[in-house]
Amino acid sequence: MNVEPHYQNIDLKFADTEIPSGKTGWRSPSNIALVKYWGKKPVQIPQNPSISFTLSNSYSETEVSYSPASSGKPEMEFYFDGQRNPAFEEKTAKFFQSLSAIFPFVNQLRFVIRSKNTFPHSAGIASSASGMSVLAMVLCDMERQFFGTLQNDEDFRRKASYMARLGSGSASRSVYGGVVIWGETKNEPGTSDFYGFPVNDRIHEIFSDYQDTILLVDAGEKKVSSRVGHGLMNSNPYAGERFKQAHENLSELLQAMRDGDTTTFIRITESEALTLHAMMMTSQPYFLLMKPNTLQIIQRIFAFREKTGLPVSFTLDAGPNVHMLYPAAIKVEVKQFIEDELVSFLSPLGFIDDEVGKGPEKIL
Ligand code: PMV
Repeated sequence: MNVEPHYQNIDLKFADTEIPSGKTGWRSPSNIALVKYWGKKPVQIPQNPSISFTLSNSYSETEVSYSPASSGKPEMEFYFDGQRNPAFEEKTAKFFQSLSAIFPFVNQLRFVIRSKNTFPHSAGIASSASGMSVLAMVLCDMERQFFGTLQNDEDFRRKASYMARLGSGSASRSVYGGVVIWGETKNEPGTSDFYGFPVNDRIHEIFSDYQDTILLVDAGEKKVSSRVGHGLMNSNPYAGERFKQAHENLSELLQAMRDGDTTTFIRITESEALTLHAMMMTSQPYFLLMKPNTLQIIQRIFAFREKTGLPVSFTLDAGPNVHMLYPAAIKVEVKQFIEDELVSFLSPLGFIDDEVGKGPEKIL
């Protein structure tokens, strides 16, 4: 059993006369789950472990200015893509307030947050993963700068991942580059329900620069929030079996990723994607998040793989867009395949060429 780290610390507070003003900024990527997290227990504890690729080009970039506040709670202005965004403002203020036992200093500050994403918001590209992990990086960075704690990178990342998880479960994985597990996993030391854990030293090199071309079938708002989606699993009649299966899939997938076995990788990741959607189709109320063009693309990926023998596969997030996964060595062939067979099924936004990335970066 993993023990929850104790992060509550009343000392992380400024003397009244020493509340600082300043600015910091981080960039943090999204990630794509291969074994999916869908279903949780309080507080943000996953029903099953998940594993993901951290992405490179799909990220949030966030600048945070801070100055003394007067109200005794975090004060906030949130600008998204240059526009004040009341929904994000409320969500972030609530998030910061919920952290006040861990970061008492947030109650002493007024924050002006300017954030942007390199990818369409709320299209099932886990914008909460990049958006929440970037805020966790900022707060841990402020702790490190002003209180001298978290000097060791491992402690810093672990706390950031823990904090990110409280904002959005999948965000716990974005704090690290490469391949990351969140959730206690049998026979995988270091894994925890409380924070993400990178497993790059356990992975075959073919997966270290894997490609993810995100085919944007519909870049509009998604119809079911992940909060609602996780909640549906509490009454889904198949949920228990699903959670069990995810544990097994994760162990088997990790072995395949150790061995560089793309055949097993494809079988498990595609099944995981379809299972995530099946869970939504079998919930009450039910949701159908794929679009006709999602299926068109999936069918073409099957046919292309059959015809060429190339290890191209797909996964899906909780939305209609298709993440096409493949080794870097076959980039040229896949590019041609997209041009020849897939572009006609895409929205005007086209596709995002992404790949496994290195994790968050300080920009200010
Ligand atoms: O982190 P949340 O609460 O937005 O949940 C994310 C759930 C999926 O993106 C569908 C799967 C996953 O593991 O990332």
